[in-house]
This record gives sequence, C-alpha cells and structure tokens, in this order.
Amino acid sequence: MAEKRKERGIVICNNEISNGIFDMWVSTTEIACMAVPGQFVMLYCEDGSRLLPRPISICEINPDGCAIRLVYRIAGKGTEEFSRLSEGMPLTLLGPLGNGFPKKEGASFIIGGGIGIPPMLELAKQLSGEKQVILGFRDVQFLTEEFLPYGTVYIATEDGSAGTKGNVLDVIQENGLTAERIYACGPMPMLRAVKEYAAGHNIECYVSLEERMACGIGACLGCVCKSKEVDGHTNVKNKRICKEGPVFLAGEVEF
Ligand code: FES
Repeated sequence: MAEKRKERGIVICNNEISNGIFDMWVSTTEIACMAVPGQFVMLYCEDGSRLLPRPISICEINPDGCAIRLVYRIAGKGTEEFSRLSEGMPLTLLGPLGNGFPKKEGASFIIGGGIGIPPMLELAKQLSGEKQVILGFRDVQFLTEEFLPYGTVYIATEDGSAGTKGNVLDVIQENGLTAERIYACGPMPMLRAVKEYAAGHNIECYVSLEERMACGIGACLGCVCKSKEVDGHTNVKNKRICKEGPVFLAGEVEF
C-alpha cells in the first residue's frame, strides 16, 4: 500500500446535511490518488492550542478531480472547528491511513450505522457483485439516497419513522435477506450484534472499528484492541486499530 502523505488541502465545500453532521469536499493531490474505501485521514486544527489531529473516515474518493469527501459529526471542539471552514480555506491532512476494506466478489451486505455510514459509500461504489445496503439511523437519515445507484437499500430507524423499526439485523430478518459476506461500520453494540449474526450464519464478516485515536499512525498505542493472534509489532495479543485496522475480520479481534 502506498505511503501516507501530509498535505495542505483546500476546502471545496462544507455544508451541514443533518443535525450536527457535515459534508466536506477537500482538494488534495496525492491522498485522493492513493486512498481506498475504508481508509481515513487525520485532520489538523489550525488552532495551535488543540494539538491532536482528528481521525475522519473517507466517504468518497475522486482521484481524477483530486478530491476526497469527508462526512463527519461534530463531537467536540476540533470537529466544531472543521465545521466552520468554508470554500477556499486551507486544511492540513495526513493520509490515507489504515488498511481499508478488501474488495471481494460475491453477494454482500454493506451495513452502516450512524456516523459509521459514510465510509460505506465509497465501498458500495467500488464493490462489484450483488449489494444489499442496510443503513441504521437513530431517527434522522443522511446519505441514504446516495447509495441507491449501487445496490438495494434498506433502512432501519430506532423510532420506526422510516423503514424497519429496530436495528440493521431486524432488516435482514424482516426481509429474509442473505449474503456471502458482510462489511460493517458503526457503533460497537451494532458491530457486536453483526459479528454474532455472522458467526451464527457462517458468513465472512469485515468490521471497521471506530475508536478514539491520538496519533493515527501506530505510534502511541492509544487505540489497541485485543486480538486472537499475537501481533508482530507489539508481541502481545493486541492490534492497533489505526494501523492494522480499522478494518478487521470480525473473528480476528475482540470488541
Ligand atoms: Fe496512536 Fe493508534 S492512535 S497507535
């Protein structure tokens, strides 16, 4: 995989698409050419008092237009600062980081929950074969229509305001869906349930783990999770989510 780059990008647009969720396109030259679905970038605040960069998953990649799309939720002062950026403003990013999703043949479930939905869009675009996209929301939807060109889209909402009332597994059950493989990103309770479902049905399952990260490049060990096998880097049963992940075979890691 190509090496990461630190680049000075320029904001192309940055709009609120749902309550506290922003949609930003950034022009970058090399990162857009190297990135694959499921990777992320670290974004740097211009305010020197907040030194730690923030990890944001890549939602779409436009290598010809030299741009990437980042859909993120305001979750603190750093992301709040990003939300105030407007067209033409500079932004420093490091990436692409992490391993990304393996693109395999065959029928797949593409499952996203909440702010875990954005990285699934580029995957849905690039994956071949039959795709059933299952999106879980608490209430308000975002990005749903953008998945329509790439597969059959199903929705679950906790409050039942759209689609199936319940979670993403309720969608599978209600519609009698089947697949050979699962790709999933979302909150931990959802990923745990998906992992259990996949194990019970003998389906290969890749999960992207969202985790608080500090360095994003494998140096601080602030993002480790327990793994089945001994890791070559740390010599213990740990994996760094930012470096060996964020995408793992579900059975490979404990969460
Ligand atoms: Fe530092 Fe992963 S965030 S090792």
